[in-house]
Amino acid sequence: MSEERATLNVGDDTLDLDLVPGTIGDTGIDINRLRPTTGRITLDFGFANTASCASKITYVNGEEGILRYRGYPIEQIADQSTFLEVAYLLFHGELPTAAELASFTEEITHHTLLNEEMKKFFDAFPKSAHPMAILSSATSAMATFYPAFHNPVDPYAVSQSMIRLIAKLPTVAAFAFKKSIGQPYVYPRNEMDYATNFLNMMFSVPTEDFEVDPVIARALDVLLILHADHEQNCSTSTVRLVGSSRANLFASVSAGISALWGPLHGGANQRVLEMLAQIHEDGHDYEKAIARAKDKDDPFRLWGFGHRVYKNYDPRARILRGFTHEVLERMGADDPLLDIAMKLEDVAMNDEYFVERNLYPNVDFYSGITFRALGFPVRMFTVLFAIGRLPGWIAQWKEMVEDPNTRIGRPRQVYRGEVLRDYVPAEQR
Ligand code: SDX
Repeated sequence: MSEERATLNVGDDTLDLDLVPGTIGDTGIDINRLRPTTGRITLDFGFANTASCASKITYVNGEEGILRYRGYPIEQIADQSTFLEVAYLLFHGELPTAAELASFTEEITHHTLLNEEMKKFFDAFPKSAHPMAILSSATSAMATFYPAFHNPVDPYAVSQSMIRLIAKLPTVAAFAFKKSIGQPYVYPRNEMDYATNFLNMMFSVPTEDFEVDPVIARALDVLLILHADHEQNCSTSTVRLVGSSRANLFASVSAGISALWGPLHGGANQRVLEMLAQIHEDGHDYEKAIARAKDKDDPFRLWGFGHRVYKNYDPRARILRGFTHEVLERMGADDPLLDIAMKLEDVAMNDEYFVERNLYPNVDFYSGITFRALGFPVRMFTVLFAIGRLPGWIAQWKEMVEDPNTRIGRPRQVYRGEVLRDYVPAEQR
């Protein structure tokens, strides 16, 4: 606790509150005695001013556009690390030695196969099923194959669950995609690295050889790194809340996938591409999109813009902005939607409405164009976000389970409904 104090005057009560400083960033006011001593509670829509936990995993400074995984700047991590090394770092808290990473990679590689019975599961979905619905359902269903690993307070069970989820989510995603286009499933290959394996499962067919371009595989690996964790965002808070009831890791992650699907969260990357394509169709009418985004009566938002925490440029968007150009150049591709995105960014960044509200491009603004450049269909974009975010969800869930301060998440409410009334039989209404 810090020496600094907070004092709260409520009616005739004066409450002396402890402060809980971060090693960096926000200081928390500990209000755990608030209701018992004042009979009052706090009200904070969207928890914009409320910490749900103390965490050591990811630091985000929204004012300065800073993102660090376990203290390492995202710029260095994206440039020098790999996705599986980041998964290890988030989960264990330290960068692995070469031997530790090799052993971790070996474990992941040898658990990428799905139980053959899971294939029947895909048959139950219509071809038109959105892959996020399949991913969330399959993740929860996967738990039925590992009943021995459900105990959240058994470190071995948690570690085995983590290995299976990180190993199998790309296989589930690729199988969902193959099902949607009527092609045969392509099985994982143990001689391939994580990103190459996923690209092979997604885009190869049994009728011919398929070579994954190592530059494309590296690009996908960097994209997954950029999505790996982001402190207490909506889907991570969902994973923590579900896990706080002692639900198993598969069930908690399945809930996180569903939360990520929302267009205000991970689903935004799909909306960004649809928005850019619409602007392209409208003859590059940026002003129309900007006007709609500013119109309170129009549910349309400038997808990929704005952020609860970043009131500056999202560092991930900044990395992706340059990265997308490199990928397109490598692909010898030229995507008019990238030009539209950069022009739209330029127009928005000079428009008072966006400037006044500190609305900057977020990770979703450029990620979709890069995913598309790598050959992924739009409906797979949020699935890619989920695969990237999985290590973060798992690390945050594990931290929650191990935190002695953890209690089942159960917020209060301010009741604003009818106080008391007697039941009226139907014939008298
Ligand atoms: C992610 O939290 C995380 O860390 C998330 C994430 C992660 O890694 O996990 O970073 C990933 O989800 C990124 C965000 C992707 N979502 C979008 O791009 C959808 C578009 N953005 C918005 O819907 C919005 O900016 C949110 C949801 C991201 C943030 O919402 P807030 O913090 O609740 O802010 P708000 O909706 O209260 O907006 C404040 C003002 C409002 O206008 P006023 O009422 O003040 O007049 O800004 C306006 C909003 O209408 N606004 C927008 C806008 N975003 C906010 N107006 C037009 N277009 C937008 N994109």
